[in-house]
Amino acid sequence: MDELSAVALEVRKYLAWVEADGTRTIVRSPGAPATVSAPAAAVQAPRAAQPTPAQRSEAPPASPAALPEGGGTLDEVRQALGDCRRCKLCQGRTQIVFGVGNPRAELVFVGEGPGEQEDLQGVPFVGAAGQLLTKMIEAMKFHRDDVYICNVVKCRPPGNRNPEPDEIAACEPFLKAQLAALKPKVIVALGKFAAQTLLRDATPITRLRGRWREYEGIPLMPTYHPAYLLRTPAEKKLAWLDLQDVMRRFGKLET
Ligand code: URA
Repeated sequence: MDELSAVALEVRKYLAWVEADGTRTIVRSPGAPATVSAPAAAVQAPRAAQPTPAQRSEAPPASPAALPEGGGTLDEVRQALGDCRRCKLCQGRTQIVFGVGNPRAELVFVGEGPGEQEDLQGVPFVGAAGQLLTKMIEAMKFHRDDVYICNVVKCRPPGNRNPEPDEIAACEPFLKAQLAALKPKVIVALGKFAAQTLLRDATPITRLRGRWREYEGIPLMPTYHPAYLLRTPAEKKLAWLDLQDVMRRFGKLET
């Protein structure tokens, strides 16, 4: 591919998420990269489209065990979570949404908590916001399967309300253990709950975003949550600046 075509491809990928309106859904065939289907009223990926257990880095449901001290594998963290009843979110969930992606990912995205589709499918970011996140990841010259995606809380807050402090506190040890197992090069915190929880900083996301911070020695970039970007598309420009900074860290952007 000549240089001009390569640039055109990158611009097309960027425009794909800048123009995304969240009315479409991800339909994946096993092992295939995410593709965009025709607009769907009910945002639902077929059962067969779910990642394999290996992609999900998740052990089958297990009885709770102690969180591995000084770090363990993702499977051990999942096992420690078990059929979690540590907070009230367990009452309304369909299933726990632990995380998805490459257990050796160098780039990890942390969101807020599962929505309706995530709760039904057991996979983070598969609804409208997930559709946009996938486009953002691809615009960054990564594939969704290269990275790891998880949330601050692993169970859906009823009616998609914000997670409450006691729920975040109950889930936080598992998020921390996931990140300790992954040891990524960079973390992208999507939205206020991820950024404020990981940084222990109550500064509004409007001021946190776009500035490199550190989480346990790992560079962390706070940016806007894709669901917010769907509601406020004008802010995609700022989010793209943040993501470009992340690309630079990986040598995926020259300037
Ligand atoms: N929003 C999130 O924060 N996480 C998801 O998994 C889906 C939507």
